[in-house]
Amino acid sequence: MGKYTGVIFDLDGVICFTDKYHYQAWKRVADKLGIEFNETINNRLRGVSRMDSLEIILERYDGTLSQAEKEALATEKNDLYRQLLSGMSPADLSPEVKETLDALRAAGLKLAIGSSSKNTKFILERLGLSGYFDAISDGTNITRSKPDPQVFLMAADFLGMKPESCLVVEDAQAGIQAACAGGFDSAGLGEAAACGKATYAMDTFAQLRTICGA
Ligand code: BG6
Ligand code: MG
Repeated sequence: MGKYTGVIFDLDGVICFTDKYHYQAWKRVADKLGIEFNETINNRLRGVSRMDSLEIILERYDGTLSQAEKEALATEKNDLYRQLLSGMSPADLSPEVKETLDALRAAGLKLAIGSSSKNTKFILERLGLSGYFDAISDGTNITRSKPDPQVFLMAADFLGMKPESCLVVEDAQAGIQAACAGGFDSAGLGEAAACGKATYAMDTFAQLRTICGA
């Protein structure tokens, strides 16, 4: 085994490509309100909680909305999002991701999820990964979302490990910031690799095997 004894994975955009469903669902809500919404704005929502995401989208809204109206919009988005998630199956888990997770596990590493999403357990179920991870820290057990490190600190705690023994895997800049703030090394994919702040910038998920010595 290498430097790490645990790996904490972000979910959306790392284990699975639900980020495209978040985009589609928010786009429907933004279109209804007549607000501009595109991939660049969507990138700012990565790792950010549902209500904080809505606030970012509403930066381009002229009117004012009550808290109840905002909550109704967030619920509408989540209903659309869950409809899209319902169509997912274990076939949506890429062989590269599954083989890499299996190899890390076989090498004796403990694996956890560290996601801001309140839909984590539902998504893992759809992918056939219920019960696969040693610990799950998600939107249901945190009070502050990324870039706050709380979700990762709780994941490490659930694993019974210190941050310095765990590697965080992220696709979001907010997630890399959260990892740094919590004292974790991080491995970035996509924009998290490009931001220059991750300990390791990866081109592929499978590179985790080399990083972790598995
Ligand atoms: C994160 C996504 O994983 O979860 C964010 O990157 C999303 O885009 C957040 O807003 C909260 O997700 P959910 O499923 O609780 O609405
Ligand atoms: Mg993500």
